[in-house]
Amino acid sequence: MDFKALIAGEIVSALEVVYGEAGVTAEVVAGALELPPDPSMGDYAYPCFRLAKVLRKAPPMISDALAGAIDGFPGRVESVKGYLNFYIDRALYAGEVVGEVLAAGEQYGSGTDGAGKTVCLDYSSINIAKRFHIGHLPSTIIGNALRNIYDFLGYRTVSINHLGDWGTQFGKMIAAYKLWGDRETVEKGGVDEMVKLYVRFNAEAKENPALDDQGRAWFKAIEDGNEEALAIFEWFKRVTLEDAARVYEILGIRFDSYAGESFYNDKMGPVIDELREKGLLKKDQGAEIVDLEQWGMPPAIILRSDGATLYATRDIAAAKYRHDTYDFAKCLYVVAYQQDLHFKQIFKVMELLGWDWAKGCEHVNFGMVSYEGQTLSTREGRIVYLEDLLNQSIAKALEIIREKSPDLENKEEVARQVGVGAVVYYGLYNNRIKDVDFWWDRALNFDGETGPYCQYTYARASSVLRKAGEVSAEPDYSALSDAEAQDVVRLLEQFPALVREAANRNEPSLITRYTAELSKAFNKFYYERRILDDDLGARAARIALTKAARQTLGTALRLIGIAATERM
Ligand code: ARG
Repeated sequence: MDFKALIAGEIVSALEVVYGEAGVTAEVVAGALELPPDPSMGDYAYPCFRLAKVLRKAPPMISDALAGAIDGFPGRVESVKGYLNFYIDRALYAGEVVGEVLAAGEQYGSGTDGAGKTVCLDYSSINIAKRFHIGHLPSTIIGNALRNIYDFLGYRTVSINHLGDWGTQFGKMIAAYKLWGDRETVEKGGVDEMVKLYVRFNAEAKENPALDDQGRAWFKAIEDGNEEALAIFEWFKRVTLEDAARVYEILGIRFDSYAGESFYNDKMGPVIDELREKGLLKKDQGAEIVDLEQWGMPPAIILRSDGATLYATRDIAAAKYRHDTYDFAKCLYVVAYQQDLHFKQIFKVMELLGWDWAKGCEHVNFGMVSYEGQTLSTREGRIVYLEDLLNQSIAKALEIIREKSPDLENKEEVARQVGVGAVVYYGLYNNRIKDVDFWWDRALNFDGETGPYCQYTYARASSVLRKAGEVSAEPDYSALSDAEAQDVVRLLEQFPALVREAANRNEPSLITRYTAELSKAFNKFYYERRILDDDLGARAARIALTKAARQTLGTALRLIGIAATERM
């Protein structure tokens, strides 16, 4: 039942009865309905202040008159200082919500909002020949959660790993490899070996600048399509992606496209021509730029004085390619806030080009990651690799499970789900723009607002349902009139709107917080009420609520990329 619509209908008819004419539509009224901060003030509240202007009456007079005229509402209506507070009949409310959740099953909260629309999501976007460290964690998990959320709302989604696979450093890397490397060591050592070669190259080039010439020559060779250079470069890429694939596998993340920066090598020409034709390019000390001074930004450099293209040039070509290929409604860039300016600049350039569709491009930025109070620094060796972090988390989870649930059968599998869940949850808990400081004891806590806590709650609900077995009686929903049950019901009702808000704001943390709220509410209900009551009607109602809560918690966890665990 759509309570908002029902209440709005009641208000509109009451307005007609009292004042002869509504002056507002049911839709407008529904949009103005508020969720009171405290359930003691009702389930919904309607403020009469705006009506006061139209009707030229004091708000309390209006709310009094309307309260007296509403007669078809299932529950209580009170007028308090210009507000109409609606208290839905609790049994009816619980029955309606729980019934709806169970009828929709795993699809509860999903929709066809995005039917016919495509969302491109650029996330994770790692760099070749660099280890996948926890600085790339937010982009990876925020992007994945957003993808799940958009999928759930019926959009077609395209996940893109915009690889950092272009730049002069790759010339240096090939030079270093040719000088000191060998195939076997790199195959075995993976990205770590490549990084070692690169570090050595830079150190030695300080003493011996001729090395830099070799680096430049190899980069030119890549650019010119020299066979040997390309073969080595492609191989570096493969080795890096094999490393990353292990992390994606642990996280359960999949990409539709790995088109990275180098993919746009042959796609920038037409864009540069278009910029020139539209008179947007300006010469500046040999470089070609788009002047953005008018908008308070430094210029966007399109071509360097040596004719080389830049990160921005590639991104502009990439946006156009994505538009032409996928015809997106939205193209989201899940990238740290350090790149705020970069995205403002390229979006402005696209606007100046008259690319109307570029309005759908959006930078979904997020804060920095640190580790136990320390900023990450490759140079100072203070770096935490994502694979190590995940594996450590899994190992710690296994330790805890061995101690707490020695009889659990599939300990390894559960440890994997919990270990990964802890890290992902931690990364998605706060508003994305906030910096994340990773602490072990906080992430792996089974009691606080953590992934393991929510997974444990899911397992607890699952266990209750296993014990309950078949339900024979019809549910008596008046057994769900107490405050604990009602809190759970209210959260369940809010879920569909919450999923939409998470999509509108590109903010998965709303769902993470929700899983904590729902877990807390369910646990309170579990402690305060006897689910397997002797009264069979009450038992059936509480089991139904447990099912609905379990199912919605499972859906919410899956949306943020966390596995729901049957047993823990
Ligand atoms: N590889 C870049 C980095 O690590 C992120 C790329 C983001 N995506 C983009 N289209 N610019 O900083």
